[in-house]
Amino acid sequence: MSIIHPNFGTIDDQRVIIFDTTLRDGEQSPGFSMNLDEKLRMAEALSALGVDVIEAGFPAASPGDFEAVQQIAAIAKGPVVAGLARAAVGDITKAGEAIKGAERKRIHTFISTSPLHMKYKLRMEPDAVLEAVTSSVTLARNFTDDVEWSAEDGTRTDIDFLCRCVEAAIKAGATTINIPDTVGYAVPEDMVRIFSTVRARVPGAERVIFSAHCHNDLGLGVANTLAAAQGGARQIECTINGIGERAGNAALEEIVMAIRTRPDANPYHHNIETTRILRTSKLLATITGFDVQPNKAIVGRNAFAHESGIHQDGMLKNAATYEIMTPESVGWQKTSLVMGKHSGRAAFRDKLTSLGYAEIGDNALNDAFKRFKDLADRKKIVYDEDIVALVDDEVMRSNETIKFVSLEVWAGSKDKPRALLELSVNGETKTADERGDGPVDAAFNAIHAIFPHTASLLLFSVGAVTEGTDAQAKCTVRLEEDGKTVNGQGADTDTIVAAVRAYIHALNKLITKRTRSVPEALSA
Ligand code: KIV
Ligand code: ZN
Repeated sequence: MSIIHPNFGTIDDQRVIIFDTTLRDGEQSPGFSMNLDEKLRMAEALSALGVDVIEAGFPAASPGDFEAVQQIAAIAKGPVVAGLARAAVGDITKAGEAIKGAERKRIHTFISTSPLHMKYKLRMEPDAVLEAVTSSVTLARNFTDDVEWSAEDGTRTDIDFLCRCVEAAIKAGATTINIPDTVGYAVPEDMVRIFSTVRARVPGAERVIFSAHCHNDLGLGVANTLAAAQGGARQIECTINGIGERAGNAALEEIVMAIRTRPDANPYHHNIETTRILRTSKLLATITGFDVQPNKAIVGRNAFAHESGIHQDGMLKNAATYEIMTPESVGWQKTSLVMGKHSGRAAFRDKLTSLGYAEIGDNALNDAFKRFKDLADRKKIVYDEDIVALVDDEVMRSNETIKFVSLEVWAGSKDKPRALLELSVNGETKTADERGDGPVDAAFNAIHAIFPHTASLLLFSVGAVTEGTDAQAKCTVRLEEDGKTVNGQGADTDTIVAAVRAYIHALNKLITKRTRSVPEALSA
């Protein structure tokens, strides 16, 4: 049987709506926060990927979150833009204002329904919670016809009470009902049972879309999501790379490919352009500074690598022996030799277009081209990965307060290493000449001398973009100030330059973040 939805029109039984919450649940987790430009870039990438709903943020959390939701609402072409709100007049009003400019908009309002959460977190009686369900959904409907209601900690909620809340939400006008596994406690059997029971028992259930939102505390996020679909859920809430609170949310790429690879077990269809998965995953990793682990399904470096002789032999005879999906179907391409130092700007732009950077602005293109020429002078072979690292690095830096200008380092086993650093701060060039316990320490001391700050360094890591001793180094720096954590990234063939770029990237993020705070009550 089909459903008529205010934003999607007639939806057939087997259509699964992909609701991406990378910019809300994902961004909410420590160290993963993004600035406005980064959120806008992710929102564009998510639209191109074909997600149906972008949960753009939690507008009442801070002016920064409000602005991000408002701007994503203004630019998003295609996906529905959702703003999260607790069951409170202020939250819902703010969400309504933030999404106002969207072509297609949604308010997602939630309240806890489990005995534990009602007693200790909300300190509310069940009847008061039930009233809040009705009043919050009713208020949200004044701003949009597309209202999602969530039962926070739904999988640990008494089933009779859950059914009463869902019934109240539907009566008040909710068009999507989300039953989250907020603490990642459920097993797949629970999900099938809960969704089937609620759908069978609640009057009006046939008119709304049911949604699953599974956290990964027991590593069951994806399995539980697919089980919820078996129980009738037709909206799946997920994040790129599975980022999110604690152990994260169900990973979009895993769910989408499980549906595509096993249609016999998961007979649903969705609108995701799967060949864009890898670049979206990489963009997120670059922005947040968190790479996925090498063995991560679909997007990990080893996801399609065949090391053992037996496997390699089988692969050569017939790839299907050990490959259940092709690497190309999720965006992996054979590493290719790209360009040399004689390549011109037009060829460089063509290359960027083929790598998915058709929209890059002229200034960023010019700066990236200069850096490419410099790289081609220093590095024997320039791979696609090098270009991606370089362009991402350039685009990330377009609006920074502090910019890298130059660095000279003297290091070795005799004298204490020394760094002569030049930075531009708000357009003014400043220099510092500092020593340290190593070249990186000396360079970081020079940053401190130019731009004094109290942030502490939580992590410094170095990886290589490609193979070989002339590979670009990719550095990550994590800084913490007043409980706020940010990650910065930098790439360069010189490891110390990459480290400095990563440090100032993180510092710039802290500068824009200084006004931002997240209310304690948002524990989802
Ligand atoms: O995990 C959760 O319960 C949430 C809700 C706000 C949907 O993130
Ligand atoms: Zn969540």
